Amino acid sequence: MRRLLFAANWKMHLGPAEARAYLKTFRTRYRRHDDRAVWFFPPAVSLEAAAEAVREREDLLAGAQDIHWEAKGAFTGAVSAPLAAQAGAKATLVGHSERRQLFGETDEDTRKKTAAALAASLVPVLCVGETLAEREAGHTLPVVKRQLAAALGGVEGGALRRVIIAYEPVWAIGTGRNATPQDAALVHREIRAWLAAHGAGETRVVYGGSVSLKNIAELLAEPELDGVLVGGASLNPESWAELVQTAAG
Ligand code: 13P
Repeated sequence: MRRLLFAANWKMHLGPAEARAYLKTFRTRYRRHDDRAVWFFPPAVSLEAAAEAVREREDLLAGAQDIHWEAKGAFTGAVSAPLAAQAGAKATLVGHSERRQLFGETDEDTRKKTAAALAASLVPVLCVGETLAEREAGHTLPVVKRQLAAALGGVEGGALRRVIIAYEPVWAIGTGRNATPQDAALVHREIRAWLAAHGAGETRVVYGGSVSLKNIAELLAEPELDGVLVGGASLNPESWAELVQTAAG
């Protein structure tokens, strides 16, 4: 059975009380489907509240938006993988384009963060994707493969199969301009080929970038997509529940 992943990246929205209220609404609105999982990535301050609100639901899960690669120490403002796990995280985003572009996160940082996530038994959701300039220069595939190799090069097959890849073209994030299912499928196939060559053919690959109620059915009709990673359209619990439901047919 194809088990779809619907991941909600709340970015810098929804504090602890808002997260609790959101998830209460979501749980009443969303009728559970065995063929789909819904993951929430709240800001760090809301992680524990979100994890608590989904604790008894096997199909729902909370994760961190970012982690530091060290387990502990003098890193003011940072949250480590073990600390996120203590707050209830089961997964973490790694290398989101906003981390890369706005916070100067490097390929080498993504390598260390992926390793730290795996060491703490968090599922790393590694985000890769090209900028508009890179796409227009015809560099989409080399960029994505460079990001994969940098973050995952040292990860052996067994651990690699625990990683999820999110293909998020930077030009599609928050712009209202999504990749077509065909555009995404082409890159997903290359990502899968790279993973298969490194011993992990079964890895899930999800798409992110301006996913909405309007395009979800069309996107998920493409079998290369194992799910979606959604920003803006995940912030309202009613319409997010509808989006997850819509794709259920
Ligand atoms: P939008 O869905 O708002 O384009 O954001 C996508 C994203 O960055 C998810 O991580």
